[in-house]
Amino acid sequence: MAKTLFVFSAHFLIFLTLSPFSLISISAEEDDFVRPMDRKLLGLKKEKLSHFRFYWHDIVSGKKPTSVAVVPPPANSTTAFGLLDIHDNPLTLGPEVSSKLVGKAQGFYASASQSEVGLLMAQNFAFVDGKYNGSTLTVLGRNPVFNKVREMPVVGGSGLFRFARGYVEARTHWFSPNSGDAIVEYNVYVLHY
Ligand SMILES: *[C@@H]1O[C@H](CO)[C@@H](O)[C@H](O)[C@H]1NC(C)=O
Ligand SMILES: *[C@@H]1O[C@H](CO)[C@@H](O)[C@H](O)[C@H]1NC(C)=O
Repeated sequence: MAKTLFVFSAHFLIFLTLSPFSLISISAEEDDFVRPMDRKLLGLKKEKLSHFRFYWHDIVSGKKPTSVAVVPPPANSTTAFGLLDIHDNPLTLGPEVSSKLVGKAQGFYASASQSEVGLLMAQNFAFVDGKYNGSTLTVLGRNPVFNKVREMPVVGGSGLFRFARGYVEARTHWFSPNSGDAIVEYNVYVLHY
């Protein structure tokens, strides 16, 4: 209570001692820094909700892997804790890697759990198809890979996905324990303009 009173009276004092001139110059500086804006000036009309579905191919084996471990996990970790892997994974319309390419998932995943295989994933979906060609969505989240459904936030986007927000649901479609390759179905629910 005493502190609140002190802050109030300090502000009051500053208000009294500032000349009208300095009050004007402070507000002019604030105007230079930020101003309210009509969203129509950026061509933003109505926000819409879209559902995208595609398959994510994590190819770690063979001559042309799309996903490489740049920091291997310590030898005796049961959850690969400490692994860092960078990927440029194809995103395709169907579960076969030969089906139509709609984009690439570019980013990394890191094994960040000591109690299960739980990944921190940070990736950009860079679309190459149709009107979304050149636009990106950014996904950042937690991926406990042995769960049936893993939800990760869509934290933003570029191009047609400016101001995007939403979430993805990832479901393993196929996984080879021998090669380590995986195909994951992604359903993306995103609000965008
Ligand atoms: C395995 O972990 C133990 C402690 O948990 C550690 O003392 C040991 O050095 C580790 N071994 C290897 C090969 O990293
Ligand atoms: C996508 O955009 C790139 C670069 O602008 C262009 O080269 C490519 O042909 C486009 N692809 C499709 C499928 O429209």
